[in-house]
Amino acid sequence: MKVCVVGTGYVGLTTSVSLAFLGHDTTCVDLDKQKIDTLRAGRCPIYEPHLEALLEQALSRLTFTTDYAIGVPDADVVFIAVQTPQLDNGNPDLRYLRSAAESVAQHLHGDFTVVVNKSTVPIGSGNWVDALLREAYERHHGHRPNGQFAVASNPEFLREGTALADTLYPDRIVIGSDNQASLDVLNQLYRPILNQSFTPPTTLPRPAGIGAVPLVSTDLASAELIKYAANAFLALKISYINEISAIAGKVGADIREVARGTGLDARIGPRFLSPGIGWGGSCFGKDTAALIATASEYHLAMPIVTAARDVNHRQRTKVVDRLLDELHIIKGRKIGILGLAFKPDTDDLRDSPAIDIANLLLERGARITLHDPVAADRFRREQPTLAEYLADRVEDVFDDADAIVVATEWSHYRDLDWAKFTPIMRSPLVLDGRHCLDADRLAELGYRYLTMTAPA
Ligand code: UGA
Repeated sequence: MKVCVVGTGYVGLTTSVSLAFLGHDTTCVDLDKQKIDTLRAGRCPIYEPHLEALLEQALSRLTFTTDYAIGVPDADVVFIAVQTPQLDNGNPDLRYLRSAAESVAQHLHGDFTVVVNKSTVPIGSGNWVDALLREAYERHHGHRPNGQFAVASNPEFLREGTALADTLYPDRIVIGSDNQASLDVLNQLYRPILNQSFTPPTTLPRPAGIGAVPLVSTDLASAELIKYAANAFLALKISYINEISAIAGKVGADIREVARGTGLDARIGPRFLSPGIGWGGSCFGKDTAALIATASEYHLAMPIVTAARDVNHRQRTKVVDRLLDELHIIKGRKIGILGLAFKPDTDDLRDSPAIDIANLLLERGARITLHDPVAADRFRREQPTLAEYLADRVEDVFDDADAIVVATEWSHYRDLDWAKFTPIMRSPLVLDGRHCLDADRLAELGYRYLTMTAPA
């Protein structure tokens, strides 16, 4: 099939590369010429494992352009995967979606095209995009559209860092439209994934036990709400274990054992029960805020989702409290933060807990040093006020430090030669914000090892 993907961010690029890999002729449109040039050269503008390798393999079926006229007219499916950043009122900023929809409409003609909202958009946006497309189509073509297109929603559930595996081997695919023909087209587009009938990339073998992938083929509003319901549930699962973690510390329980013993109940499930400094990233914060904002338009409160956000926010301040408990004074202390990305295997810094923690420590007068094995360059560009605290070498973070906070569970940090650092630290204190280090080994080496689980 012929596919056009508007927007080459995480979602757009992963979708494009995966669809091209599966055999669809895919054109990626992005107005950012620099990004397009990078992609044409076979390089990825973002850090995502396997993406560049797959891009290379699928390059012959990929076209990168800044011109809608190249991708849209022949496409069976146009995905809109532009950014929807959060506004101050919690709602997403839909201006990029609007302009993408208007540009798409200008180039739609002739055969039936499914226009798919891939960006996470508020419930009701499908109808809104449909109206925008109709208006723009009429303005541009001088007559009303007559069955040339229909709008569908196809929320994505990929995680940064595992985006390609999540796309090729998903738990489910959700498609929603009030037009049956578009559901049929999307069903056909995803057939290789639904049937798992493609030959897996050598770098990403099919996980054992993967069979046919369930398809949820539903109406537009349901598909849109599924995305929010899923993200909010995952977010509250994490906040829940963090809340339990607080009581675990008081009663002397081991939160990892508690999480394991709880998650083995098939009704609960073991994933997203890792305690620590909480969630960050571009999705959970934005989507929970948007869900609350949408609910408020219907005079509905969302107390559970609101509480999940509060708990998550508190985890960041708790880092400072934990250090205060141990060091008694924060002012003047040298505190190193290991990990700046919101999670490992990405250089994404959006809503990263490490950034809030760094700022909170600075407010309390600490001297901070920061390190990330992958996200440092991006950090320098995106966080100019904190960039001066970046250390080039991980040794510099430990040197003379009163405490180290592990904010991202990069394997790089797990694999450090921790024995090397105790002699150069002022006090060998480690606050493992992600439960990712070997506590017993660190204790043997003379570290004071803390987690977010505060004892009584
Ligand atoms: C999340 C969802 O997991 C995806 O399904 C969804 O498609 C995506 O949002 C989206 O809406 O685009 P992502 O934000 O990339 O994906 O990353 P996650 O792996 O979900 O991690 C989010 C945050 O939660 C990270 O900061 C991670 O460290 C934290 N986390 C995760 C925990 O603190 N504990 C856990 O047990 C799991």
